[in-house]
Amino acid sequence: MTSNKRIVLSSDHAAIAMRQAIAEHITAKGWEAVDIGPTSPESTHYPTHGEAAAKRVASGDCALGIILCGTGQGIMMAANKVKGIRCGVCSDEFSARMIRQHNNANILSIGARVVGESLAMSIVDAFLESEFEGGRHGTRVDMITAIEG
Ligand code: RB5
Repeated sequence: MTSNKRIVLSSDHAAIAMRQAIAEHITAKGWEAVDIGPTSPESTHYPTHGEAAAKRVASGDCALGIILCGTGQGIMMAANKVKGIRCGVCSDEFSARMIRQHNNANILSIGARVVGESLAMSIVDAFLESEFEGGRHGTRVDMITAIEG
């Protein structure tokens, strides 16, 4: 894995408590959590937060990202509009491992209204502990990148 240990975290209002718990969890594991909020429980718009996190990863400021909204779906869609981002929603550990190993995902999205906190931590661990395998998977990821133009 890269020497960059910075993980950007963002969410909308539906996932603030889970995002903050994940930030604490990954900090305890030696990552640098770059939590860009929001902290207010007021209703907000997930595309803003998905784009902001995605730009931190696309620019290289952060190695990886973890984003959350109620379902994980809307914020994932926004993040994937940023060039260079490969983000998947995961509700299980297997998928979180696979999106790193096979798809070279650089952002994990979680639905705070879908999974409980304990499962969310296991999903995060599976994502951060996995490495891209390259090889035939590299060919396919390059094909995704080519679609970006
Ligand atoms: C907000 O109520 C909710 O729509 C949002 O968190 C998310 O689930 C959208 O995909």
